[in-house]
Order: sequence, then C-alpha cells, then structure tokens
Amino acid sequence: MSIQSFNIDLTDSFERIPVKIFSDLQKGSVHIAQEIAKIIREKQAEKNRCVLGLATGSSPKLVYAELVRMHKEEGLSFKNVISFNLDEYYPIDNDALQSYNRYMQVQLFNQVDIDPANVNVPDGEIEKENVKQYCIEYERKIEEAGGIDLQVLGIGYNGHIGFNEPGSSIHSRTRLISLDNSTRIANSYEFANISEVPRLAITMGISTILKAKRIILMGWGQGKAAVVQKAVEGHVTEQIPASLLQQHNDCNFVLDEPAAGELTRFKSPWLTGECEWTPKMIKKAVVNTSLKLEKPVLSLTNSDYKDSGLGDLLVEKGDSYEINLQVYYMLRDSITGWPGGKPDVHLPNHPERSEPYPKRCIIFSPHPDDDIISMGGTFQRLHDQGHEVHVAYQTSGNIAVTDEFVTRFLDFAVGFEEMFSIDSKKSKEILAEARKYLEKKKSNQVDTPEIRAVKGLIRRCEAKATCRYVGIGDERAHFMNLPFYETGTIEKNPMGEKDIEITIELLQRIKPHQVFCAGDLADPHGTHKVCLDIVFEALKRIKDSGEEWVKNCWMWLYKGAWQEWDISEIEMAIPMSPDQVMKKRYGIFIHQSQKDMVPFQGSDTREFWQRAEERNSTTADLYGKLGLTQFAAMEAFVRWHY
Ligand code: F6R
Repeated sequence: MSIQSFNIDLTDSFERIPVKIFSDLQKGSVHIAQEIAKIIREKQAEKNRCVLGLATGSSPKLVYAELVRMHKEEGLSFKNVISFNLDEYYPIDNDALQSYNRYMQVQLFNQVDIDPANVNVPDGEIEKENVKQYCIEYERKIEEAGGIDLQVLGIGYNGHIGFNEPGSSIHSRTRLISLDNSTRIANSYEFANISEVPRLAITMGISTILKAKRIILMGWGQGKAAVVQKAVEGHVTEQIPASLLQQHNDCNFVLDEPAAGELTRFKSPWLTGECEWTPKMIKKAVVNTSLKLEKPVLSLTNSDYKDSGLGDLLVEKGDSYEINLQVYYMLRDSITGWPGGKPDVHLPNHPERSEPYPKRCIIFSPHPDDDIISMGGTFQRLHDQGHEVHVAYQTSGNIAVTDEFVTRFLDFAVGFEEMFSIDSKKSKEILAEARKYLEKKKSNQVDTPEIRAVKGLIRRCEAKATCRYVGIGDERAHFMNLPFYETGTIEKNPMGEKDIEITIELLQRIKPHQVFCAGDLADPHGTHKVCLDIVFEALKRIKDSGEEWVKNCWMWLYKGAWQEWDISEIEMAIPMSPDQVMKKRYGIFIHQSQKDMVPFQGSDTREFWQRAEERNSTTADLYGKLGLTQFAAMEAFVRWHY
C-alpha cells in the first residue's frame, strides 16, 4: 500500500507549496529535528544566535524528543538558541497540565541546555488590560532578536496556524483571539470536558509567521489530509490560514503518507503523471470516476474515461466496458456474508478461505467496546456461523468513565454489602477512601489506582455483557489490561516488552486462523495505533520463531470508531440487514458508561452507535451508487499481509 511507489511527474502543477513525504511520523519528525539542529549548528559556527519559532500540540512531540536525544547523545547545544512560541491558551495558569508553557518545559526546555532567559512563550496569566501591550512587546522582542530564522508549525483541522483561526488577516500580528468552537472541540481531548477548554488564546499573527526566514509545517495522520490538500493545492484564502503560506518563499510542508493522502498525486495520480496501472490503481481510478460522475461503474463510457483524465488507461487496457467489468467483479467479490469463509464450497475469489472450518478467530478490541462498535455485525456472524470467536480486550479503557458514573457504582457496592450484611471491612475502606477522593478531586487530577481499577471493572463488565449478548461465554473474553495504557492520563506510554509478551502469550494459546484488529494506521498518537503495533510486533516475533500455525493466520483490519476505509480499498464488506443493524445498536447500548457523556470524547459529538450506523450505511450506499446491490449497512475490512 506504499504510496511512494507511484511515478510522480506533474505534481508542481497542483502543489503550490513544496511537500516532503515520509512513510511515518517518526521519520518525518526526525527529519524536522535534523533541520532544526542543522540551523542551530550553522549559527553556532558563525558565532550567531539562532532564533526559533516553536509550536505545541500533539504534532511536534516527537520532534522535541529527537532534539532532546540529540542533545543528550550527540552534544547538540541550545546555548545560542532564542525561542519564541506561537501561542498559549488564555487565561491559563502557566503550570496547568494543558498550558503550553508547561508543555514546552516538559517536552524540551527542561531537558536541554537552553538559557531560560532566552525562552519566550506567551503568558496566559497576565491581566487582561495588559494583554495588548504584552503582544506589542512580544513582536518587538522578536524583531530585537533579529527575526525568526526557522518557524515550526502544526496545522489545525480548520487550517489554522498558530491559533490564527479562519478569517485571520494576512496582516495580523500577535494578539488575543477567540478560539473557534471546532478548535476547542479538537483540543478538548486534553481537558476533562469541552467546557474547560479556554475560549481565548494569545497567538502570533499571520504576518508575524510570514516574516520568519524559513518555515516548516508538519502534518501527521489521515485526519489532516483534507486540510493539507486545501492549503497546498487550493487558492490562497484567509479562510484556510495555512494556504497563506503559499506566499512565503521558503516554506515546506513535511507530511506522513496518511496526511498526504488527499493530494492529487495520491488521490488521482493519473492526473499528475504516468502511473502504473496495477489492479488496485485501476479500481481506485474507476471507483473515483464513477462516484464523481454519479454513474454506476458499468455505465461509464470511453468519453467518461477521457474526460476524467483516464485516457492513458484506455490506451493501456483497452475498451472501457472491459475495464468496467474488471472493477465491477472486484467490488462484487469483496461482498460476502461469510466473514470466516463459506464452508464446503470452492470460491476462488472469495475474500476468505473456506478451509479450515470452523476457524478460531480473535477480535482484538483496543477499548472494551471497539469490537461491537466497529464490527458488531461481523462478530455476530462469525459466532452464528459456528466459528470459535475470542475477543481480546487490549486496554482497560478506564479513563473514559466519568466520576459520576463510578460514584453510582460505588454506591451500589456499598448498598449491596449492607443489604446482605456482608461484612467486608476492606472493601468498605476502599469505597470510603474512593468517595472521599472523588468529592475533593480537582478537574484533571489523575485518579487513584483504586478508582481506576473500579472504572476498568465497570467497562470490563459491560464488555462481558456484550459478549454474552452475542453468545460468547466469559472464557472467550480475554482482558489483557496492557500496561502501556495505564497512565491514568490521556497521554499513554509507548508500547513496551510486557505488552508484547502478553499478546504473544494469548496468540500462542489460541493459535487463531483469523485475527481482526483496529487498523487505525493513521491515528498518530492514539491508543489504537499502539494496540495495532503491539499485535504486529507479536505476530512478527512468532513468525520469526518459525511457528507453523501463524502461516495460516490471516489478519483483517477494521477501522476504529472514527473513520472508514476508502471505498476502493475495501477487500471484504459484510452486509447487514436492518434487523442486524438494530441488534448491533442494542449491543452498543450495553456500554452504558459510554453513553450520553464521555470524558475525552474528541471532536465528534455523536454517540458511538450513531457514528457506527452512519458509517455502515454510508458504505452500503456507496456500493449501491457504484451499481452493486444496495444493503442497509456494511462493515468493511482490509487484509493486512504481515
Ligand atoms: C500549537 C498551534 C496549533 C497546532 C494545531 C495542530 O502551538 O499553534 O496551530 O499546531 O492546532 O495541533 P495538533 O498538533 O495537536 O494536531
């Protein structure tokens, strides 16, 4: 699936900002860190100061980690660096968990030899009446330092740079601005809930940014792909502040593959130059054209192909009718009601093998409800069709339970013991402690281990209830409690040896023929990606050790709660009837702790069952529009060859 293998020629006619693309954000972050180190060293050699403009947010974390590593292991010194950060929430205490002042101390400044007097981050604590003067001073300081040599930027989903929201003028300078609601929602993952996200921020202006001598903007993950495309290929408009960077003469975008995915050279590579017409590429081109022209695949004509930039394909592969049929069959063969393979028949083009039957399957579910949300219909079918289905709940999911919800359960536990005169001193003590803690708990304070355990238990009981609802016994529900997750905060640890060991142990015990994983390859820092990497690593090690069974174990990826596969990528689509959709909905409802209000919900305020249903019916509609049978809903999978 590597998108770098395409033959790229005419990208310049679409891309108005030079773009560098890396296979993943680690490599991209290392590249940016090297660029920063290079300029610091060049200035050192000239005995000059180096003025850096720095960003915060999730995007630059690995850049800073790499700079810290270079400082510790390669002697990179920051003694000649003067830094100016882009922005800060307002008002906010400088030492608050979410403050960018604190962020910079933790991620970079405390770990390198920068002179604290050379560090400038807008101050979220100053009095409102002094903000204007403060901002003028900030600009003056930048000028006094000789201007910014290298400005590092992230990009918001709405195209903001710094906190210059859409509509910000190209002439804007450092100032107090009001955050867009969409930004507050996007950043709410750092706060307990949306109401705690500040409404204002101090930000450098667009003109302040454009004055930098050189600019690097980084974008990671599929979520950023749409806005990156607009900024790089669209018109210059203040509605997409990052597009204003087209007017700078030394600005680069550094992207990972998923963030670059909407650029024309990947989305429609046939428009930007010659491309290799593999079956996958043909499917992508024809499916895109069919959806764009709102014509079923089998109705596309030679002139539709030519008008859509697919003349080359006709030259190479012949008449549109033949190509249409080829794509139609690919789409048709991806639809099956038998996710574990159809027993006793020989179907060479079926997405799954008929043999062995029944299969042992493991559904890896990063959180305790991803199994039912993302593949509830398939889960049910696998079980109904006689396969041995196991669910591996990878994390406890304990941070996503509200204090109100856990208090309700503590009440229940105390009441239960009283009702039956159970004299369990220890549990009474734990409950009393927990209640006391919760009453005084400040927002964003990390829960005690006991409370986290109870929150985890609540989610575990919900997952077990869902398994029973599908028809799976408790012995097939495996609660892995992977340690990387257990930080009690939104920020998780990277995968560790213990996580891999636990996963290897489970895989070796069950020896599955099929594993299903949340394939959120694009989710840059999230739990799903770490969970996936752990399974990849576990399977790789088992394979390397030469175990036989793993050669017959196929891996299917589903998407988590947030997105769906591109329609042309789907290799197995499982249709659902309206009744099956309802059955899945009720299965999701069992996760009561996740209904109505969930902490750290992110930017999508719909409930999980709504997201799941909309996504599954959209997939079915797209198949319908392409001219295939229209089902009520469909769950979609891509096979991963490891
Ligand atoms: C942060 C900043 C913002 C972020 C942008 C992306 O200093 O100025 O423009 O760069 O909101 O945020 P993340 O990286 O968290 O996706």
